[in-house]
Amino acid sequence: MSNNLATIDEREEPGTDASDRPLDLHDLQSGLLHPRPSPYVGAYLVFRVDAARDGRALVGRLGRWIASAATWSADAQAWLTVTITYEGLRALGVPQASLDTFPDAFKEGMAARAEQLGDTGESAPENWEQPLGSPDVHIALAAIAPDAPRLSVLLDQIRQAHRDLYGVAEIWRQDCYSLPTEREAFGFKDGISHPAIEGSGIPGSNPKEQPFKAGEFILGYRNEMNEIPIAPQPEVLGRNGTYVVFRKLHQDVAAFRQYLRANATSAQDEELLAAKFVGRWRSGAPLSLAPDRDDPSLGADAARNNDFLYQEDDPRGLKCPIGSHIRRMNPRDAVVTGAVRLHRMIRRGTNYGPPMADGVLEDDGQDRGLCFVFVGASLTRQFEFVQTQWVNDGRAFAAPAEQDPLVGGGGCPFTIPARPIRRRLQGLPRFVTTRGGAYCFAPSLSALRWLSELDA
Ligand code: HEM
Repeated sequence: MSNNLATIDEREEPGTDASDRPLDLHDLQSGLLHPRPSPYVGAYLVFRVDAARDGRALVGRLGRWIASAATWSADAQAWLTVTITYEGLRALGVPQASLDTFPDAFKEGMAARAEQLGDTGESAPENWEQPLGSPDVHIALAAIAPDAPRLSVLLDQIRQAHRDLYGVAEIWRQDCYSLPTEREAFGFKDGISHPAIEGSGIPGSNPKEQPFKAGEFILGYRNEMNEIPIAPQPEVLGRNGTYVVFRKLHQDVAAFRQYLRANATSAQDEELLAAKFVGRWRSGAPLSLAPDRDDPSLGADAARNNDFLYQEDDPRGLKCPIGSHIRRMNPRDAVVTGAVRLHRMIRRGTNYGPPMADGVLEDDGQDRGLCFVFVGASLTRQFEFVQTQWVNDGRAFAAPAEQDPLVGGGGCPFTIPARPIRRRLQGLPRFVTTRGGAYCFAPSLSALRWLSELDA
């Protein structure tokens, strides 16, 4: 039977497996690696499994509809991704011996690691939207479609799959979308920079960045350290799976706009200041290539808008501040603490809540922001490293008192290098607050079948 644990003691040690198999695209959930074409609409759905048998039936039914990465198509009717938390795997009846093979960060879950992630004060788990952060979050689905009618077909199918499974309860839903402009709530074009992955057939967005070993993003393959990382066991459960971090991040758009207005000398300076926070103009044009004024045609040109490095051209950050969001999140060739290639991330974020009307400075009371989604093979080396060392700390960038000006916790200074004198903003407000999140595992298609057939 495929779901026994015979392989549990046959775990690969790092670097000892000589088999360098090509990435098995036929076994990967299609929604994980590919950037999705905008616009789209979607919903995140969370389920609690009260009866393992019903939970397994749901996983089996949903798993049958998920296209593999080998058949991914930009013209697809919809994309469905199934992810499961540690508590969810337990609720489905995964044996303890297998649960024990998952990494500690995943087992503990995001809420337990709040302090180190900077989720304190308003962002602390006790203030999170329920049931996020609770042990009730078991199965999390991302249902995405190019438009509302096709999303509604997919959601109907999910409803049908769930209909007679009384031991599974839908406990949370978050609608989301990406605009045709791909702008996030602060008004910047997002989703520009993404890594190329060997064997995936997906081109990277930066011609100056070498493709990454598949093992950085999918379990069961060599990574950038030439190791095959230890994966959850049995092999059918871990291989071709990956970790997904979900974070609901509220964006205080009014506070961001007010801050820019109060600290800029003119409308033009306001746009420059905004660009210095992000490292790109709102159009997506990078400061590294357009340091003085926006260049919307550059921002829209996928062949050029990510074609840059930092170290030789702009070592001091006179164009793109060393502490700006994109330079922190991916310092490229810049000299920083931490080997940049070991901390790359796939992002699959989407907007939630209505966009705030242009020009409005007062808060309209609407909840809006980003459903941040990370995909990668290591929660600690990738997501947690970036969040703790590069978002919440400035030491890697020789500015110990500073944090990421856009998504950090607020209260810190932000230095904008300039000649003849730099500009130093003091005590930035907090613009982004965590409303909840979860660490999930996205099993392969064969692992979803294995889970559905468990007879525990
Ligand atoms: C509400 C919160 C956030 C907003 C509004 C935001 C916005 C943006 C924008 C506008 C870009 C530029 C587009 C691009 O280069 O693709 C970007 C890039 C990026 N962001 Fe964020 N972001 C947020 C949170 C985060 C968090 C929490 C992380 C990581 C922990 C992160 C990691 C990245 C990375 C890795 C890039 C690409 C950098 C590059 O490769 O040059 N972002 N973000």
